[in-house]
Amino acid sequence: DQYTAEINAFSPANADELETFRIKFLGTKGIIKDLFEQFKTVSSEEKRTFGKVLNQFKQLAEAKHQDLQESFKSEVENSKSEIDLTLPGDNFQVGSRHPLSLVRNEIIDIFKRLGFTVAEGPEIEDDWHNFSALNFPEEHPARDMQDTFFIKKNNGKDDIALRTHTSSVQVRMMENGKPPFRAIMPGRVYRNEAISARAHCFFHQVEGLYIDENVSFADLKQTLYHFVQELYGEGTKVRFRPSYFPFTEPSAEMDVSCTICKGSGCNMCKYSGWVEILGCGMVDPNVLENCGIDSKVYTGFAFGMGMERIANLKYVIRDLRLFSENDERFLKQFQTEI
Ligand code: PHE
Repeated sequence: DQYTAEINAFSPANADELETFRIKFLGTKGIIKDLFEQFKTVSSEEKRTFGKVLNQFKQLAEAKHQDLQESFKSEVENSKSEIDLTLPGDNFQVGSRHPLSLVRNEIIDIFKRLGFTVAEGPEIEDDWHNFSALNFPEEHPARDMQDTFFIKKNNGKDDIALRTHTSSVQVRMMENGKPPFRAIMPGRVYRNEAISARAHCFFHQVEGLYIDENVSFADLKQTLYHFVQELYGEGTKVRFRPSYFPFTEPSAEMDVSCTICKGSGCNMCKYSGWVEILGCGMVDPNVLENCGIDSKVYTGFAFGMGMERIANLKYVIRDLRLFSENDERFLKQFQTEI
């Protein structure tokens, strides 16, 4: 009776405890085996009742053991399949577009709507495509305008350098095709400058070229005016200042009314209300002839802008170095504009 109570009350916490139970009662040296040994010694009258009790007891112990064993087994199985599908999943980190990509895509979109295609060219250029064809005279200080990284410096003509502007792509386009041309050239360019908040040894440009019969300076102004309205919003003012580039004549620089302080004065526009965003001009007839285009039939305009500057004004970025440092705290701020 004492054992029956113990068996009924038995509630093991784990499989080890159950095993101890089995050895104690059902093992070869266990209690039940022992009782059966004793059974042999009782008188034959007692055997009937004792035998019955003994058998019941044995069955009880066996049934209990089997029950518990199964419950442990199914517990192990359950824990294996216990994946809670209602739990929230791990976050999937979505990257963000680089601000320069955002700006480049936007510029491309605007000019695409005006019928401009996109052209690309090599970053390592020869002297002809980067300088000579563009009317930079040999040994003329104009070449120093753009501090060049030379890869191979020979006698000028055979020099190989990292392109200093994507005007080289314009030359390639004109040499390899027939007018009319209407294209923009986005790409990375290199200049040998000390790295600071305001200058870097590489940056990104979008240049543009439009060549056809009867293209005038008025077309240039209207195209760029429209571009700025699209990019910075209706009402953005522009102004053109005379300038000089070897490959355009006349040449100009275009300013936009400061998009940040709206003219009320900020250090982005050096408190002037105006920011220069691009250089432009009518393609010099010498350049057209250098590229095999009849300058008596065709005229055209070209322009070139730094994408970093455009992005600075759009996103109020005050340090050029941020664009190439890959600081996630900076890059993540553009998350929403994928
Ligand atoms: N290539 C000039 C630069 O790198 C920009 C420019 C392009 C100016 C076309 C006029 C016309 O600064």
